[in-house]
Amino acid sequence: MTSNDSTNAPSQPGHVRTVVVPAAGLGTRFLPATKTVPKELLPVVETPGIELIAKEAAAAGATRLAIITAPKKTGIMGHFDKHPELEETLAERGKTEQLDRVRAVDGLIDAVAVEQERPLGLGHAIGLSEQVLDDDEEAVAVLLPDDLVMPFGVLDKMIEVRKQYGGSVLCAFEVDPEDVSKYGVFDIEPSDDPDVKQVKAMVEKPDVEDAPSNFVATGRYLLDRQIFDALRSTKPGKGGEIQVTDAIESLIEQGHPVHIVVHHGARHDLGNPGGYIRACVDFALRDDTYGPSLHRWLNKRVAEENALDSFEETFQEN
Ligand code: G1P
Repeated sequence: MTSNDSTNAPSQPGHVRTVVVPAAGLGTRFLPATKTVPKELLPVVETPGIELIAKEAAAAGATRLAIITAPKKTGIMGHFDKHPELEETLAERGKTEQLDRVRAVDGLIDAVAVEQERPLGLGHAIGLSEQVLDDDEEAVAVLLPDDLVMPFGVLDKMIEVRKQYGGSVLCAFEVDPEDVSKYGVFDIEPSDDPDVKQVKAMVEKPDVEDAPSNFVATGRYLLDRQIFDALRSTKPGKGGEIQVTDAIESLIEQGHPVHIVVHHGARHDLGNPGGYIRACVDFALRDDTYGPSLHRWLNKRVAEENALDSFEETFQEN
């Protein structure tokens, strides 16, 4: 665990001290890899997803990362521990680049574990983080580690929007209407601003025909502290789980302002192998070391695949 002296700096309006990372899931879609390796430690090129999240949180000014873990899912916290033997060996061998990579998390953020004993839902996981907050923290950010929202920086925009309107602010993407059932979906006030919209209601994973829009929640939440009271009185919802979407909806019903920041960049879903592979390719293509040769190889490989497709098409036609 790292420590950071600024953890207890006075809370200022518009400043987020704690970022909550729900990471108690079993990662069943990645079995057998996740039998022993937490999904959040799988590398995107060489950096584990949890470190990308820690960097994003620190860049937004947060000093505490509250990681919600499950019993026996201990490896994640170990990633934030010092590893003196490894560092010594790398230093002795003059491997400075690798040493820098190992030390990248030192002092980055104060990672603290909060155990979720039973998988009772995202809302329940977020609710548990209240115990690590200081009394003067007025808001908390939640970053879902399955969602990579690129380029980084959407949290800064969300903090600005909360400064302007108060309440809670969520990141939204516009998705194809047929995909809405995988997400929390917003009912929004029409407005001329393409980037910031007020939310009238929110519903978790509706059927396509019942969805109020195709603007969906994508793993970045800036929640007023009132969310914890709302979560306490939230009953199990979709999938029998306590849903943060339902708690946000109850805040809206009480007149609490909720806005979305519509993100126009890219998004990767690290929660399933298909999305994870795309994220790895995307990051690797941008990488100075791996990018150029991967690009050449991909072009060749895709050309082979296209040639095969057109051969099959011709064969079927005849
Ligand atoms: C969760 C939330 C959902 C949100 C989604 C974003 O669902 O419950 O509202 O849209 O994350 O990734 P999950 O993907 O955990 O089922």
